[in-house]
Amino acid sequence: MEFLAKTMNLKEEVVNLRRWLHQHPEPGFEEYETSKFIKDFLEENNISYRECTKTGVLAEIDTKREGKTIALRADIDALPILEANDVPYKSKNEGYMHACGHDSHTAVLLATAKFIKENIDKYSGKVKFIFQPAEESPPGGAKPMIEDGVLCGVDYIYGLHCSPDIEVGKIAVIDGPMMAAADRIEIKIIGKGGHGASPHQTIDPVVIASQVVNNLQIIISRNLNPQDAAVISIGKIEGGFRFNVIAPEVSLDGTVRTLLFETRDAVKQRIEQIVKSTVAAHDADCEIKYTNGYPPLINHNEHVDIIRAVGGSILGQDNVVELPYASLGGEDFSYFVEKIPGAFFRLGIKLEDKEQYPLHNAKFDMNEEGLEYGIKMFAGLVYSHNGLK
Ligand code: NI
Repeated sequence: MEFLAKTMNLKEEVVNLRRWLHQHPEPGFEEYETSKFIKDFLEENNISYRECTKTGVLAEIDTKREGKTIALRADIDALPILEANDVPYKSKNEGYMHACGHDSHTAVLLATAKFIKENIDKYSGKVKFIFQPAEESPPGGAKPMIEDGVLCGVDYIYGLHCSPDIEVGKIAVIDGPMMAAADRIEIKIIGKGGHGASPHQTIDPVVIASQVVNNLQIIISRNLNPQDAAVISIGKIEGGFRFNVIAPEVSLDGTVRTLLFETRDAVKQRIEQIVKSTVAAHDADCEIKYTNGYPPLINHNEHVDIIRAVGGSILGQDNVVELPYASLGGEDFSYFVEKIPGAFFRLGIKLEDKEQYPLHNAKFDMNEEGLEYGIKMFAGLVYSHNGLK
């Protein structure tokens, strides 16, 4: 894979692409300028594409030689965050920011397309480049893109996310579950309001809600295998009007994170049992609404092995880091690997000389030296399936 050294020629360009994108952040399904920028770049480089799912773009390079069809995916949306960095490439779209690094994913994928196009004599088969909108806004852009046929004829798929915890020149991988199902639970507890001095004439939903919040944690501590991570966080409680009035109802709103489809089903069922029985014990009523968010992202282990092998030969085996745990964050790349084999990995972009802020922080920034390794990994992964010797 010596020809991958030629990604050097794209080192400056990928940074420029990322900076333009960083200056023009747009929220999910409103990535109009971003989408135009992607299409212009593809046209300049003679790469065919079609528009797909509002602001999404599906590009394709067909070598006209027999081989597999490999898809690579980048998410293109930004967050509603006011950027607090003072850098020359600061967001020009006030109130929006590429605080999750999707600017780097898009830049890396564009540069990879250019690289593969320029080195097409090294490849067989086809490559599809999925520029996906709205990763940050569930129900997200991945699902409608799949419904629009972006995976038609695709054998395998790969994606990456930049990681501020990992040094430049390294990638990180994990077998099986990598990110969580990110679901929402809304519960309404309906009691009977009245005077705070006469609780016996009421059914107090505040007391019941407190018990519900506590009892839900029993699912995590007593119903699940302790090795199987899951989270129930009630982020919002609403109810009542006055210190001396017992409220007629209380609403709870929370997030449920699980790493396996079976765990998700079990937790969902247990939530219903616990809420209903707690409420019934007090003669109150309830309404429960469970909304599935993104499914868990479960890597296909043969493809994690391919990432390990490609990473090992490009970056050196010491630079392929094994993640000790899955994250309980959500990521709609999960829909792609639910449909076809593939895997997701993390790309090191940790800053060396400056303080590193986490993803989704108004001061998040990255070490752009890491981007070239993203191109190498993507181009190398395609080569590992479709390389001509
Ligand atoms: Ni992200």
